[in-house]
Amino acid sequence: MVTEPASQVEENERPATEAPDGGNTRRGVLIGVGLAGVAGVAAACGGSDDSGDSGGNGAAGQQSPAAGGGAALAQTSEIPVGGGKVFKEQKVVVTQPAQGTFKAFSAICTHRQCPVDEVADGTINCPCHRSKFKIADGSVAGGPATRPLEEKQVTVSGGQIKLA
Ligand code: FES
Repeated sequence: MVTEPASQVEENERPATEAPDGGNTRRGVLIGVGLAGVAGVAAACGGSDDSGDSGGNGAAGQQSPAAGGGAALAQTSEIPVGGGKVFKEQKVVVTQPAQGTFKAFSAICTHRQCPVDEVADGTINCPCHRSKFKIADGSVAGGPATRPLEEKQVTVSGGQIKLA
């Protein structure tokens, strides 16, 4: 019974004397956790970027440099006859309205500048308000757009399509 008050006193004194050290230790731990968290986030970002890049390059390895340096935008075999393909990164649509005839247009809709997202049934289609443009000349085939898609110049050589 006599020791209880004594122990209470000790307990009361300990936090008072240890508080500064305890506080520093806690700050140190918090800082450490903070840095670890940042490092973790950075590592996670690096990891996802790496995987994203490698995935993109793997799927379209020869296409990525195309926008900058005149490398091939696409292989002719990628573009279906009577159809086309949207290259989102380059903001270009390449079509093949007839066997061996390749056309390219801006992928930006002339209505409200949404990127078009598909080529189907002979038209290039905008998802925003359903404007449609003909694959042969980019002219309006339906929807609210009133102006044709801007035509881009391409060259075809050796089975490769390049932006001119
Ligand atoms: S932005 Fe394409 S239809 Fe409106």
